[in-house]
Amino acid sequence: MSHIMIHGGGRLKGTLAVQGAKNSVLPILAATILHPGRTVLRGCPHLSDVEASIHILQHLGCKAGWEGADLVVDTSPMSRGDIPDSLMREMRSSVIFLGAILARLGWAEMSYPGGCELGPRPIDLHLSALRQLGAQLREEGGHIRCEARQMRGREIALSLPSVGATENAMLAACGAEGETTLFNAAREPEIADLQTFLRAMGCDVRGAGSSTICVVGRQPTRDAVHTVMPDRIAAATYLAAVAAAGGEVELRNIDYRHLSTVTAALHEAGCQISGGEGWVSLRSDGALRSIPSVRTAPYPGFPTDAQAVLMAALLQSRGATVFVENVFENRYRHVDELRRMGADISVAGRVAVVTGVPRLCGAEVRATDLRGGAALLVAGLAAQGMTRVGDIHHIQRGYEDPVRDLRMLGAEISLEED
Ligand code: EPZ
Repeated sequence: MSHIMIHGGGRLKGTLAVQGAKNSVLPILAATILHPGRTVLRGCPHLSDVEASIHILQHLGCKAGWEGADLVVDTSPMSRGDIPDSLMREMRSSVIFLGAILARLGWAEMSYPGGCELGPRPIDLHLSALRQLGAQLREEGGHIRCEARQMRGREIALSLPSVGATENAMLAACGAEGETTLFNAAREPEIADLQTFLRAMGCDVRGAGSSTICVVGRQPTRDAVHTVMPDRIAAATYLAAVAAAGGEVELRNIDYRHLSTVTAALHEAGCQISGGEGWVSLRSDGALRSIPSVRTAPYPGFPTDAQAVLMAALLQSRGATVFVENVFENRYRHVDELRRMGADISVAGRVAVVTGVPRLCGAEVRATDLRGGAALLVAGLAAQGMTRVGDIHHIQRGYEDPVRDLRMLGAEISLEED
């Protein structure tokens, strides 16, 4: 086991290229199953969630692995459609494989993805979409068995714009006869990236990025090469770190339009922000103002995945900020750890009120989940003294090498063995 040590209080300065997007590469790896051939993915981040997806593809009989910097998948030898409990537990978002396996084989089996640190993670919308496409689903003993000898396209309206359910429905619809129209689809940029990949593979998918997505299924597919979009949440994390510690950063390989609600919040807190084609820069004196309120919402609203890191950046701001977490039930698990560093945060259900304190002090803390763990890095950089962050496996699910990246900005940070 290892942990991260941070000597906080110093200003940050530098330029950083943003990693590929975890929440784009995961559904794209599932989508490779739709084509019995070869896919080359460029710009893939080296993450434990990506390794978990590679293990699932290999379990299904596919070839998957790194060839230099590229992640190469060949699903032609695929021989099975079941995902065992052990692999489902490695990554709960493995449910994203369901639609693609069903489209390819006509059947799929997996155990119910467990809940996670963010609260229950229901998949009722995923299963409802598959049933509407003609799949028969049997749920017993924590397992789901799907059969769909012939799926047929149709109109599907999602009761809420779930990212995963949108992606699962898109992938299943690629295997259905005829046209599927998905209403109230999620509009996250990662879904537009998935559409770009599907179209490169020959699938007929249109409308991603809007609330209505159209798929004409059973198109001939071909080998494809795709470069994964940059990770807007990793970018938000590094902007929050510099905002909190003070200094200046230029992020490269990022679409600043994907960060507009995050940069608007940081600007309101007193940072100087500018952005252009492929870059975003931020300058902060480290003395931030509070923001009246931050409400998370599906894209293009403020991203729930950036809630924790923005909260960490505002812990020493003048005044109080009201956070309202509207997407997940239990996404304040990082609060207790931040309190150990001297943060003043009151939580009541979905509302968290952050009152700025004059000083944060380094402490021994533990990551509770992916983005909550990233928030501890942000707070540790702004705190006086040493912070030890344990349970960093949560962080490694979504950040390729935060120690490397933050060192590029001059942070006194290191990865150490327990
Ligand atoms: C994706 O999760 C992301 N994960 C999450 O990122 C992100 O926080 C989330 O979208 C929202 O943007 C990946 O893309 C791998 P949802 P997903 O379905 O698809 C409820 C991170 O930190 N819901 O949009 O699971 C659900 O409980 C991770 O990178 C149902 O009720 O999110 C939640 O309250 C964390 N029934 C809300 O919808 C369903 O069938 C939004 O979930 C599905 C979801």
